[in-house]
Amino acid sequence: MHISVIGTGYVGLVTGACFAEFGVNVTCMDNDARRVEKLEKGEVPFFEPGITELVAKGIKEGRLSFTTDVVKAVDKALVIFIAVGTPPKSDGSADLSFVEEVGRGIATHMTGYKVIVTKSTVPVGTGERLREVIRKHQTKPINFDIVSNPEFLREGSAIEDFMRPNRVVLGADSDQAAAIMKDLYRPLYLLETPFVVTDVPTAEMIKYASNAFLAVKISFINEMATVCERVGADVQLVSKGMGLDHRIGGKFLHAGPGFGGSCFPKDLAALVQTGERVGYPFQIAGAAAKVNYEQHLRMVAKIREACGGLAGKTLGVLGLSFKPNTNDMREAPSLTILKELMKEGATVRAYDPVSMEEATKLIPGMIPCKETYDVAENADGLIIMTEWNQFRNLDFERLKQSMRQRLLLDLRNVYDSDRVTGHGFRHVSVGRPT
Ligand code: UGA
Repeated sequence: MHISVIGTGYVGLVTGACFAEFGVNVTCMDNDARRVEKLEKGEVPFFEPGITELVAKGIKEGRLSFTTDVVKAVDKALVIFIAVGTPPKSDGSADLSFVEEVGRGIATHMTGYKVIVTKSTVPVGTGERLREVIRKHQTKPINFDIVSNPEFLREGSAIEDFMRPNRVVLGADSDQAAAIMKDLYRPLYLLETPFVVTDVPTAEMIKYASNAFLAVKISFINEMATVCERVGADVQLVSKGMGLDHRIGGKFLHAGPGFGGSCFPKDLAALVQTGERVGYPFQIAGAAAKVNYEQHLRMVAKIREACGGLAGKTLGVLGLSFKPNTNDMREAPSLTILKELMKEGATVRAYDPVSMEEATKLIPGMIPCKETYDVAENADGLIIMTEWNQFRNLDFERLKQSMRQRLLLDLRNVYDSDRVTGHGFRHVSVGRPT
């Protein structure tokens, strides 16, 4: 089978490279010529474990190619995935202009039956809108089907998530399209991955419902953490005790500085906006977003209190990306927290294993450091902002030598208090007794 993927961003490139690995011939199209030129040489424009190797393999074995030419992308492909951006507009709703532009391109160049699949996170009704756009721009009536096949991969473990998903969701408007999609996903079908086959709007909603629910879980446990701190309980054990109930589940109950990334904040805003559009305010989604923003600020208050004020203090920060194993800084808690710390007069020295270049541009005034121990120089406190593995085994004796005060602000609850205090450090974490 020959397929194409339009948009070589995070989701598009992972999708293309993984289908090539499944033995499918894949053409990835992007209108950014420089990006395509680099990809043709195997240069991946973002950090994701394993993706460079998979792209190189696909190219070498002749199943993965790149183009800027929409005709090439449409011509041979039976299935065309749309994986272009759907950035938020100022009112929170998703901007679908890129999706519609691709729809017009496909309509103009298609010469036979196609299955046109939305892979980007798109609000309910986009499939229907896409169908109208394509019909309107076809030069002659040619049959096609629309499928919604939302992607559930996480940055940092994208390939594993694609290759071994919990489920594949297919919203199809015909049996023929559903059968073609199942055939494409045959390797997963053989692994007994559950397939949820629905109509198009239901599949679109499953994506928002899943992301919003995960975000709600995080905001719930972060609020719980604040209450735990005040009553002297340990939120990590509360999470464990709750999570062992299968109806709740233990995942996404890790308290911290609040969620970031390109998905949860954007999808909550879009869900709130969808609710408003249909006359029902989606209160829980709105509350999860509000709690999350306040959680960033609660971290600032926590740091201020632990340091006895921020003016004139030096803080060392470990980790800046919104989570480990990615260089993605979008909506990272570090953006709000570091800016607030500096606004109140603190000097911030920071290090991240892969996002330094981007972070330095986004957080003016921050002192970029070259490695972990560099941030600790004359510091009144060391903040673990993102739980990269390399920060899980710090040499406290070495830190002691360069820090002004022995204080660890463990915003990701990486360390046991005994270990930290055993080295003479004060340990401040999230939702645990200090
Ligand atoms: C999220 C979803 O997990 C994916 O299933 C989905 O496909 C993706 O959005 C998307 O829509 O494209 P992602 O944003 O890459 O994936 O990252 P997550 O691992 O979900 O983490 C999101 C944020 O929540 C991070 O800032 C992380 O630190 C935070 N988090 C996560 C917590 O604070 N506590 C937790 O227990 C879990």
